[in-house]
Amino acid sequence: MKKIIIFGLAFILTSSVTSFSADFLVSPPPKSMDKYYSEPGMPSEWIIQMQKLSVAFSALFLNMEKNKWNLAEKQAVLFLKSYEKASKMVPEWEKEFDLKSATKLKKNIETKDLKLLKALTKTLEENCSNCHLKNSSSVWIRYHWPSTKTIKVLDPTEDKEISYPVYMKKLSNSLQRININFEEKNFHQAWRTLEIFAKRFTSLRSVCSKCHVSEWKKNSVSVKNFFVGDDIIDSLQKIKKEFATGEPSEKIFRQNINYITNRSCKMCHLVHQPAAFIQKTWDQKTKTLDN
Ligand code: HEC
Ligand code: HEC
Ligand code: HEC
Repeated sequence: MKKIIIFGLAFILTSSVTSFSADFLVSPPPKSMDKYYSEPGMPSEWIIQMQKLSVAFSALFLNMEKNKWNLAEKQAVLFLKSYEKASKMVPEWEKEFDLKSATKLKKNIETKDLKLLKALTKTLEENCSNCHLKNSSSVWIRYHWPSTKTIKVLDPTEDKEISYPVYMKKLSNSLQRININFEEKNFHQAWRTLEIFAKRFTSLRSVCSKCHVSEWKKNSVSVKNFFVGDDIIDSLQKIKKEFATGEPSEKIFRQNINYITNRSCKMCHLVHQPAAFIQKTWDQKTKTLDN
């Protein structure tokens, strides 16, 4: 499952077809990449360089197609310069850059041989995609995705702060208990465990802003409308109402529990868990290597 999601993410990002092996590995990015992402909130120097070379590359292509050879030549020089600079930024990746084709492209621009030049840009384009496909997911998970490691959540039933995965386990336990109590027809106890679950669930809402620091300012929708929104609270209310009757309907109970597990737990896991799990395996790997 994890692999399929990552595969999917990477695939959406690339328009040209690139081949890669089925046992695609998501390894941590090279250490020397760290320094380009050292200042949180600041644009990464790596990204700035990528944008530079990318603009030159597109402009080169456009001018070539429009027969504006003077401009094309200027952009070819700019492209080669920024491409070479990028290739030196991360020594571990130097070989991933096709410097040969980039140099050949610049050299041959004066021939105005569109067929040859287009073939070269195509080769280069495929090379860009190849590296993106192989490495973007790693870079995003390492530098763009905050870790759950430092997050503490206040458990409202015990009034103490606990780690994110432990909080999840407690949340999951209280949900399971509601189910068990219901099956045992101990509705009074089921009501009480539902109260605990509802408290824990509501408290989860305060966690979002630890990572989603800048909310979507332009519209009234908040990230909290997803996974922990009013629809979930509404489902909890419906279960409560059923319990209050003393003879709750099994159908309504199941419907609402399923709604919560699918629309909250499952959906949120689909979005957030792959990155968290990969970060965790990387941590374990580093620990093993350190030992
Ligand atoms: C050695 C690997 C590698 C090569 C080769 C490479 N890139 Fe990138 N590029 C990356 C990585 C990794 C990212 C993701 C950076 C991030 O999101 O933090 C990226 C991101 C980008 C971005 C997005 C920048 C943004 O605004 O987020 C563009 C555009 C880009 N590359 C263009 C290109 C072009 C065009 C080429 C080829 C001419 C190319 N790249 C070659 C590794 C590479
Ligand atoms: C450990 C960090 C972390 C926590 C905690 C977290 N998120 Fe996210 N979430 C992310 C990242 C990173 C993304 C990717 C896109 C982004 O940066 O917004 C994301 C994406 C999303 C998206 C997809 C749309 C979007 O904003 O890009 C939604 C919806 C979302 N999160 C909701 C939530 C809700 C609701 C909570 C709290 C119950 C939450 N998240 C808690 C890190 C987190
Ligand atoms: C903010 C989105 C979000 C919501 C909503 C959410 N989870 Fe999670 N859950 C996560 C993330 C992220 C992890 C991985 C945490 C980690 O490993 O650091 C996780 C991990 C877990 C784990 C594994 C804990 C472990 O390490 O063994 C369980 C069990 C779990 N969640 C249950 C639930 C249940 C049940 C619900 C719904 C009532 C739920 N979660 C709702 C994001 C969410």
